Amino acid sequence: MTKTKKIISAAVIAAGLCYFGMVVYVWHFDSQRSEASPQRGLTPENAKILKMLNQKGCDYCHTPSAALPFYASLPVAKQLMDYDIRTGTKIFDLQPIRESLLEGSVAPEADLAKVEWVMQHNAMPPTRYTALHWAGKMSQAERNDVLDWVKQQRQRYYSSPGAAVKWQDEPVQILPHSLPVDGNKVALGTRLFHDPRLSGDGTVSCASCHALGSRGVDGLKTSTGIKGQKGPINAPTVFNAVFNHQQFWDGRASDLQAQAGGPPLNPKEMGASSWNEIIIKLNQDAGLKAKFLDTYPQGFTAATITDAISEFEKTLLTPDSPFDRYLRGDDEAITVQQARGYQLFKEHKCATCHMGKTLGGQSYEPLGLRKDYFTTDFNDADIGRLNVTKNDRDRFRQKVPTLRNITLTAPYFHRGDVATLDEAVKQMMIYQVGEKPSQPDVDDIVAFLGSLQGHYQPYNLFGK
Ligand code: HEC
Ligand code: HEC
Ligand code: HEC
Repeated sequence: MTKTKKIISAAVIAAGLCYFGMVVYVWHFDSQRSEASPQRGLTPENAKILKMLNQKGCDYCHTPSAALPFYASLPVAKQLMDYDIRTGTKIFDLQPIRESLLEGSVAPEADLAKVEWVMQHNAMPPTRYTALHWAGKMSQAERNDVLDWVKQQRQRYYSSPGAAVKWQDEPVQILPHSLPVDGNKVALGTRLFHDPRLSGDGTVSCASCHALGSRGVDGLKTSTGIKGQKGPINAPTVFNAVFNHQQFWDGRASDLQAQAGGPPLNPKEMGASSWNEIIIKLNQDAGLKAKFLDTYPQGFTAATITDAISEFEKTLLTPDSPFDRYLRGDDEAITVQQARGYQLFKEHKCATCHMGKTLGGQSYEPLGLRKDYFTTDFNDADIGRLNVTKNDRDRFRQKVPTLRNITLTAPYFHRGDVATLDEAVKQMMIYQVGEKPSQPDVDDIVAFLGSLQGHYQPYNLFGK
C-alpha cells in the first residue's frame, strides 16, 4: 500500500467510526424524545400513529414549530436539517393530521392522499435522514399501520357509495348523482343566476361568465365583466363547485352562498353599487316577487338572493362520466389507455393534489412547488392564498382546480395562459411534480382526463 492509500483508508475508517458514533448518539436522543411524546387521552390506535410520526422525525421536518433535538445545532446536522425542514414544511404541513389524530376528528383529504403516496412508495423519511437516524427507518408493518389509518379515514369521511369493492379505497371518488335540495329555492336560484338585473347596468348575469351550455366557464383567458372590463383571473367552472372546501382560487369565500355575494358588487364583474339597488329592481317584478315571498317571507335581501343561487348551484353536478362508471365496476367503461393513464396519474403524484369527488378543490398548493414558476413577473392574483391569510407560506398557493370535464374548460391555470391539456399536464409534471415529462405518459394521462366528462341533467323544476 502506498502512503497516500494508507492515509485514505485511515481516513475512511475514521469517517466510518465517526458516522457510527453519530448514529448511536443521535439514536439515543431520538429514542428519548419519542418516550416523552404527548399523550392526551387519545385512542390507542391514534396514539400509536402519532407516536410513530414523532419517532420517525416526520414532526420536525413537517411542522413549523416542532421542538428540534439539540444536535440540530451541530454544524453538519444543522445544514442537512435546515434544508430538509425548509423544503419539508413548504411541501407538506403535518399539523392538520396531528390535530385530527389528537382529537379523533377528520383529516384533510389531500393530506391523506399525500401521506398515502409516500408510504406506498417508501419515500419518507428521506434516506439521507434515515442514514443518520436509524430510529427514523420505517418497516413495512409500520407503513401498513399508517396506510390502514388513511383507509379508515377515507372510508369514514370521504368515500362515495356505489364503488366496486376493488375501487373502494381510491384517492379519486365517484361523483354523486344528486344532492338533497329545496326545489322551490332551486327554481328561484335558476332565475336569479340568469338575471342581469343583478348587475349595475342590466347587462351581466352570473351566466354571462358561467354559461351552463359551456360547462360553466367563459372560455376566455381572464373574464370580461361590465362595460367590457377585463378581470385579473380565469373563471373556474360552477359545475361541481359545491364540493370545493372553499370558493375562489384563493379561498376568500367559505362557501357558495358567501361566494355569490361577491360578483354583483364587484366593480369589474357585475358592478352594482349596492344590494339595495338590486333589490329595488327585483321588487318591481311582481311575478317573481310573489314567488320569492312564498319561499322567503322576508323577501329579497342579500342573504336570501345568495341562498337561492347557492341552492341552485347544488344541482350543477356532472355525474356518470365513463370514469365514474369504471369505479362502479364497469371495466369496459374506459379504454385500456385511459385505465393506464389513471395508474400513471397516481404514480406521478397528480392524485396527491387532484383527489376526491372532483379531483381538486380540497387544498391550496403553490404553482411552482418543485420548480419556480414565477421569477419577477407576477401580480396580486398570482400571489393567491397569501392575499387571504397574510402568511408567507401561502405565497403563490391557489385552490387546486377540479379536473372534472377538464377537456371542455380550456384555457387552463388561474392565468388562463395555457391553451391545451397536453401543455397543462406537461407543466404540472415540471413545476408541481419535479419530473421531465415523457410524451407517452402525458398522452395516457390526457386520455384518462377525457374519461372525466360527465352528464348534466338540468334539475326538473316541475317536480319529479
Ligand atoms: C429530515 C426531514 C424529513 C423527515 C424526517 C420527513 N420528511 Fe417528509 N419531506 C421532507 C422533504 C425535504 C420533502 C420534499 C422533498 C422530497 O419529496 O423528497 C418531504 C416531502 C414529504 C411529503 C410530500 C410528498 C410529495 O411529493 O408531495 C409528505 C407527504 C411527507 N414528506 C411526509 C412525511 C412523513 C409522513 C414523514 C415521517 C414518516 C416524513 N415526511 C419525514 C423532509 C422530511
Ligand atoms: C365577469 C365574469 C363573472 C361573473 C359575472 C360571475 N363570475 Fe363567478 N367567477 C368569475 C371569476 C373570474 C372567478 C374566479 C375569481 C377568483 O377566484 O378570484 C369566479 C369564481 C366563481 C366561483 C368559484 C368557483 C371555484 O372553483 O372556486 C363560483 C361558485 C362562481 N364564480 C359563481 C358565480 C355566481 C353565482 C355569479 C353571479 C352571482 C358569478 N359567479 C358571476 C367570473 C364571473
Ligand atoms: C402539488 C400539487 C399538484 C400536483 C402534484 C399536481 N397538480 Fe395539477 N394543479 C395544481 C394547482 C395548484 C393548479 C392550478 C395552478 C394555477 O393555475 O395556479 C393545477 C392545475 C392543473 C390543471 C389545469 C386545471 C385548470 O382548470 O386550469 C391540470 C390539467 C392539472 N393540474 C393536471 C395535473 C396532472 C396531470 C398532474 C400530475 C402530472 C398534476 N396536475 C399534479 C396542483 C397540483
